[in-house]
Amino acid sequence: MSDTSVIYVLNGPNLNLLGVREPEIYGRDTLADIEQRCVTAAGDARIVFRQTNHEGVLVDWIQEARESAQALIINPAAYGHTSVALHDALKTLSIPVIELHLSNPAAREAFRHHSYVSSAATGVIAGFGAAGYELAVQAALTKVRERA
Ligand code: DQA
Repeated sequence: MSDTSVIYVLNGPNLNLLGVREPEIYGRDTLADIEQRCVTAAGDARIVFRQTNHEGVLVDWIQEARESAQALIINPAAYGHTSVALHDALKTLSIPVIELHLSNPAAREAFRHHSYVSSAATGVIAGFGAAGYELAVQAALTKVRERA
């Protein structure tokens, strides 16, 4: 049976620069490479993959996902450490939410140790580089199937 699930994969500020931005931390894959990895990992499920540098746009997309998605993956980037608005928007969702980071913020500077997103997420994947996106898609599909 084919999977008609829709998974939103939202990416926050500066992730458009992946591949050239601090590659020793974030790796050499571009965001387009990562999108392709997600599409492949999703199989028959549909990936809606987006990036923005603007906090309010992320809020708008999270609200859109309430109606349009069966699961949401978010790399909030720096907004994870600062944004009550993202926390509040994510709390309105009743679908699985996976917080994702390429690096492991807990092993980095102290200002990265707190996330406003974690307490609104079903689970967190961090520290596995671009492969973390594939893990997140697998986790999202597992959660969706558990709920079906
Ligand atoms: C990041 C980690 C954040 O601390 C940082 O601000 C980012 C990227 C990651 O994917 O490792 O921009 O979310």
